[in-house]
Amino acid sequence: MLLCATCLGASLLLARPISEDEANVPAYALPPVLVASDGSPVRSAEDWVQRRRPEVMELFRSVVYGRTPAPAPILAEVVEQDSQALGGRATRRQVTIYLLGRRDGPFVDLLVYSPNHVQGKAPAFLGLNFDGNQATTADPAVRLARTWHANGKPGFVNNRATEATRGTGLDRWPIDMILARGFAVATAYYGDIEPDHAEGWKTGLRAAMSPQGAQTAWKQDDWGAIGAWSYGLSRCLDYLQTLPDIDGSKVSVIGHSRLGKTSLWAGAQDERFAMVVSNDSGEGGAALTRRCFGESLARITTAFPHWFAPGYARFADREHDLPVDFHELIALCAPRPCYIASATEDKWADPKGEFLSGVGAGPVYSLFGLSGLGTETWPAPATPVGESIGYHLRIGKHDITEYDWDKYLAFAERHLVAGHRAQGPSSIR
Ligand code: GCU
Repeated sequence: MLLCATCLGASLLLARPISEDEANVPAYALPPVLVASDGSPVRSAEDWVQRRRPEVMELFRSVVYGRTPAPAPILAEVVEQDSQALGGRATRRQVTIYLLGRRDGPFVDLLVYSPNHVQGKAPAFLGLNFDGNQATTADPAVRLARTWHANGKPGFVNNRATEATRGTGLDRWPIDMILARGFAVATAYYGDIEPDHAEGWKTGLRAAMSPQGAQTAWKQDDWGAIGAWSYGLSRCLDYLQTLPDIDGSKVSVIGHSRLGKTSLWAGAQDERFAMVVSNDSGEGGAALTRRCFGESLARITTAFPHWFAPGYARFADREHDLPVDFHELIALCAPRPCYIASATEDKWADPKGEFLSGVGAGPVYSLFGLSGLGTETWPAPATPVGESIGYHLRIGKHDITEYDWDKYLAFAERHLVAGHRAQGPSSIR
């Protein structure tokens, strides 16, 4: 058995030790995605949309991520705009989005770059970032994040970002490359929506949307932080859809790691997202939890209890009783294109389990006449595969890199950009 250093300590506390050895994957049967709760088969796209999809949504809501409240109208204020940003290549907007329509309520500072060379409306990528918008670019005009951030990373002092954090996440956000390929890019700091710690909800969106505020006693199926962050993404999309230079019907939602779990849940709930990208999302994201490979349900609900509906933890070490598995989360994206990526050294996230989720979602894409991954064989590293479901296994560690973005851009070009779609060998939508 192989154990990563960070999980070793935690695994000792769990009933079943963490394993990163394929030999320890138990025999498992996935919940059949195309069998309705009454036992009847689901045979058509219409039956999926009308009958089965709502059931699967309900399972993820009631058991995994919790129930998202009905959306409130946003109030968006453009605080800065420059049509000649980045040496004239882009139009930059910095926008404060008041999530509940009130200036004294929770807000998100959204950074948007749209490519000036694109005539008309550009397709876009929208994703949350870990360290503030200022970390995603060296652009000195981008404002520092204003909300709580854990201390520990260099440049965060007294739980706030300082100038020293500017551009520290450039490798994860190849903004020039995205713009050059004709896509807009929009990003916001996830901590604006809710600080990422167990008590973070008290000063975040969830308390603000609860009648009991910071006194709320959460029920088993109430929403967790992933739900709140996803809600924030949808409100950013509300705003992007108002822009004259962005095609609001061609916005891909993207996220890495915990924010990859978030992009999947956002894409599942909000079908206005035209494409969904999960980068190294792992347990509670793309990975099949029944494989018990790498991070387990018990470990994630112990280390990060606030991410999920409170009741999710009752399935710790009981994955086989969970009425759903994560291939069904990918299926909720159908028929929209969905890309899942893994990394060879990211065993904690169970790369093979992430791939197999895509395999498991395939039958739902088939109902729409679409090919999903087009293979059931886990591909070699650095060999992207897939039609309506994309997959690659990057060589390297847990991260999102230019290599990953290049593949997501190619996938988006193929599915969302008319000229590319007509030419590509996989033009199936
Ligand atoms: C931890 C956690 C993962 C998560 C990751 C991240 O490793 O166990 O589930 O995806 O953090 O968000 O970076």
